[in-house]
Amino acid sequence: MSVTVRSFAKINLGLCIGSLRPDGFHDLRTIYQTIALHDVVRVEVTRGGGIEIRCKDPRVPKDQSNTCYRIIEPVMAALGARGRVIIEIEKKLPVQGGLGGGSANALAVLLALERVFKKHLPDDDKLRIAAAVGSDLPLFLLGGGVLGLGHGEEVYPLPDLPSVACVIATPEISISTPKAFADWDSLEVSAKGAAERAGSPSKAAKLTASTPSDRMLVCGRRFSAWLSGLSQNKIRTGKALSGVLVARGRGRAENPLLDLVRTGIENDFERVVFPQYPELIKVKRVLEEAGAFYASLSGSGSTIYGLFASRAAAARAVARLRKAGTPAVATTTLTRQQYWKKIFD
Ligand code: C5P
Repeated sequence: MSVTVRSFAKINLGLCIGSLRPDGFHDLRTIYQTIALHDVVRVEVTRGGGIEIRCKDPRVPKDQSNTCYRIIEPVMAALGARGRVIIEIEKKLPVQGGLGGGSANALAVLLALERVFKKHLPDDDKLRIAAAVGSDLPLFLLGGGVLGLGHGEEVYPLPDLPSVACVIATPEISISTPKAFADWDSLEVSAKGAAERAGSPSKAAKLTASTPSDRMLVCGRRFSAWLSGLSQNKIRTGKALSGVLVARGRGRAENPLLDLVRTGIENDFERVVFPQYPELIKVKRVLEEAGAFYASLSGSGSTIYGLFASRAAAARAVARLRKAGTPAVATTTLTRQQYWKKIFD
């Protein structure tokens, strides 16, 4: 029997990197948002044993280094199942692009195996298995808007945010996430060194801007204030958030994503990735000039996304980017309901 799953991508609406922890991960705070762009993952289980990964894209690893491969053993053990697992990936998302493509593929394998064996694993077990395979997997067990804490694996569902038009620009640059984190650490060390050399506490404060824990606190306050606004609005209107994004300047009721943007969200990875790849700054600028109400690097990149007030504006931005030689597609963000409705269609 085989099961086909749409493996949707995510973008990060703000990403704040905290301290390097003793376990080698960095604390982080982010809001993940699933989008309609996806790979297709087909899972088949036959007699025998072993794992086989098929994908026409040569950049996709077919061995243990593929997260799909690594999730099979713990899932099969939890299901008490046996067999030869064959995974076929139709790759449309960029590899190492900051859209969580590989993580989404692995989570799709977990969901497909549950269907193949007609068994449901407890949510708690699924979250545990997903987190052990990668920081970006658990978010795909929730879909929609998701608050990500810990090293990104601790996830909480946000109230469903309205679907908005979105442009995904995928410059042909692969960025390794562990390397981007290491570059972030070097940046922190050099800022600290410069501050110490400056001698005076006031100069030092200017140079370091703030410590990782200060920045995490600021980010936490911004997320908290926004969430509190969302729930207060829900109480006032007495209904769930719904509808489409409206033009700039309108109230919080219609436009929760614009409200989030107004809190000043940022992706810290831009500070290490942009100086290395200045062409990405230009891509972000094109999106902003084309009318994006927010544009940012997703994860550690190199994908840059833009959020737009209408599909027409998003389509115009795609045309501009392509004219400038940057591959780009228009898509939409996915509410949690849409995510689960479309995943097995
Ligand atoms: O969890 P994942 O497999 O995606 O992490 C890959 C690597 O990225 C980690 O081994 C670590 O070096 C780095 N990382 C990190 N902090 C995070 C997430 C990942 O330093 N929050």
